[in-house]
Amino acid sequence: MINWKKDSTILDIGCADGSMTSKLFKELIPNCKTMTGCDINEDMIRFANEHYASERVNFTTLNIEGEMPVQLREHFHHATSFYALNWCRRQETTFQNIYDIIKDQGSCFAIVVEKFSLFDAYRNLAKTEKWKQWVIDVERYTSPYHDSHDSLKEMQQLLDKIGFAIKKLEHKVIVHDYEKQENIKGGIMAVVPFKIPDELYDDFFMDLSQEMQMFDTKKYNFKKSTNDYFLNVQLLVLYAEKK
Ligand SMILES: C[S@@+](CC[C@H](N)C(=O)[O-])C[C@H]1O[C@@H](n2cnc3c(N)ncnc32)[C@H](O)[C@@H]1O
Repeated sequence: MINWKKDSTILDIGCADGSMTSKLFKELIPNCKTMTGCDINEDMIRFANEHYASERVNFTTLNIEGEMPVQLREHFHHATSFYALNWCRRQETTFQNIYDIIKDQGSCFAIVVEKFSLFDAYRNLAKTEKWKQWVIDVERYTSPYHDSHDSLKEMQQLLDKIGFAIKKLEHKVIVHDYEKQENIKGGIMAVVPFKIPDELYDDFFMDLSQEMQMFDTKKYNFKKSTNDYFLNVQLLVLYAEKK
């Protein structure tokens, strides 16, 4: 489906530690010329440069919802982004920036988190006496589509408005089986953005996972959740070309 141009330049947005970007470059897009991973977090970019940079793979700090440097205008053939664009509150600015930095006939492939019981759990814990001191700024970490009644339509209207030609736009659920508590704890706590004191870490995980279990089964009707070491994440998958 994706028309990766030979010798193309690709930007991976929200690359974090760079491991996924490097894997993508090696396994999925072997004939691209260069792959650039970008992230708003400077520490991540430092780590990525130390561990995954090579002659054709590089990493740079960039806020995709900020002002784009002029030299990036129409610079890349393709943009990819995995589980990162849902962090951006200003979706129109974000997708307009992506449109501006890709060349004509270039494309964007993105996986955006739509709904996730983790966000519901954050909201509930933020209201409790026990956790409200640490669980702060919850909306900043919640997907802009989490409360949406028709996120596909919202995304379609946004991409249309900017001028993208939508080639694929669909809703997907991924169910991840972590098999044991230790694994799911590591998986969830790695993405929790709050500074929970070490001595409260286990207690926090227990309360968070209980809330997630409740929302997964009662609000979203998933059969299994954190009690069975399952994570259910609802996603928007999109592939759009610059006309
Ligand atoms: C869950 S991680 C995804 C990591 C990687 N794409 C993967 O799939 O393994 C999301 C990343 O998006 C980054 N991010 C959040 N807002 C951003 C922004 N405005 N511009 C660039 N990166 C951003 C975060 O710093 C974080 O590293």
